[in-house]
Amino acid sequence: MKLTPGVPLEIGLLLNEGEPSSPIGRLAMAGGLAQLEWSAEVIKIRRRIDPLLYPPEAGLQAARGRDFDGLHGFLADSLPDAWGRRLMKRRLEKLGVRLDALRPVDRLALVGNGGRGALVYKPATTPVEDTVAIDLDVLAEQSRILLLGEDTDLIDALAKLGGASGGARPKVCVGIAADGTVGEGATVEGHDEWIVKFRATLDPADIGPVEEAYARMARAAGIDMAPSRLLPAREGFGYFATRRFDRPSPGRRLHMVSLAGALEALPDVPSIDYDGLLRATRAITRHAGDVEQAFRRMVFNILAHNRDDHTRQHSYLLGADGEWRLAPAYDLTFSNGPGGEHYLAIEGEGRTPTRAQVVTLGRRHGLSDRTIADIIDAVRDALADWKVIATELGVTASRAEIDDRLAHTAAAFG
Ligand SMILES: Nc1ncnc2c1ncn2[C@@H]1O[C@H](COP(=O)(O)OP(=O)(O)O)[C@@H](O)[C@H]1O
Ligand SMILES: [Mg+2]
Repeated sequence: MKLTPGVPLEIGLLLNEGEPSSPIGRLAMAGGLAQLEWSAEVIKIRRRIDPLLYPPEAGLQAARGRDFDGLHGFLADSLPDAWGRRLMKRRLEKLGVRLDALRPVDRLALVGNGGRGALVYKPATTPVEDTVAIDLDVLAEQSRILLLGEDTDLIDALAKLGGASGGARPKVCVGIAADGTVGEGATVEGHDEWIVKFRATLDPADIGPVEEAYARMARAAGIDMAPSRLLPAREGFGYFATRRFDRPSPGRRLHMVSLAGALEALPDVPSIDYDGLLRATRAITRHAGDVEQAFRRMVFNILAHNRDDHTRQHSYLLGADGEWRLAPAYDLTFSNGPGGEHYLAIEGEGRTPTRAQVVTLGRRHGLSDRTIADIIDAVRDALADWKVIATELGVTASRAEIDDRLAHTAAAFG
């Protein structure tokens, strides 16, 4: 599990699984901080693998701080969040290794080729797993058991399917064919890669239908989202599934960095606000349409009462043309946020943001009053369909609370 001390970790960019990855740099630890050296190729063509903080220049660049385990933010993005970390910890325990005892570079080596986006790490120490049978109901149930702190025989299967995933909820990455058949990965002809999400312990039973309803409303409001669907469960509510935008077609990958990684702004502390999201979007993409899109997502999050809007809930993708763009939106669902507030405040307000604050922020970012009003109207119109969509998708348990919150939020917004 541990790399030989002194041997640097090779970082590669794997855009096409049929070809070798291109070397982009090397990483070693010194004094608790990771030291990055870009490859000659990256420096020569001035490729912006990191959008803001670590320019493609010669020499060692130390991580700017210890917030991300002493790693550079864009590399820390490759590590799993709460769910994947839990899986990693459990599996290492079975092998007699403590996760805490591993250095950040050792953890990246464990991710190997299996991470999000297109960054890969060599030597990879990812355990090789057998093919696993995919039964979503069984995987959902075993995830629930694992979240309760109990053991499951399916730990290796869950790790294979979701060990490198982000987010707190249990999830698996699977291949789905056009007719809805689910298989392992996109290796099977005709399968695209999707993420299927299961409930976290505190989620309502109908979180799947709620997230699908939100995805439909977000699209109607002009928000760019990957295709999604509600997969049936044998009993009860279905599972929300979203097509992976970092796997645009079988065997292809796109490099991705979260807002958290790009700015080195931790998700769970109040580090930046929506003004920061819009400024970062302008700095990273230099694209007015992306700034407007980020603004639209803010308006949606406010009026749809999605307060789980922290810095890992927004990402950027590096296109084949070498340009950074705002990634599609994801994880849009009804959520109360910490202490009932948005993670990202709106002009200092996290609890009851108003139209006046949204207008001030939009104007500061160059949006005309007309555009701002149109975006607010589009979001309102889309949300007006909540009851119809919720009924169609079978939302029940959460229905009364969301009806009530949406009405309150709209009234407070003004
Ligand atoms: N459609 C998608 N394509 C690619 N990556 C995605 C997609 N949806 C989510 N992700 C990635 O997976 C992570 C976890 O997904 P998310 O929906 O946020 O789960 P959770 O509800 O556990 O927070 C996100 O932070 C993002 O990096
Ligand atoms: Mg999330």
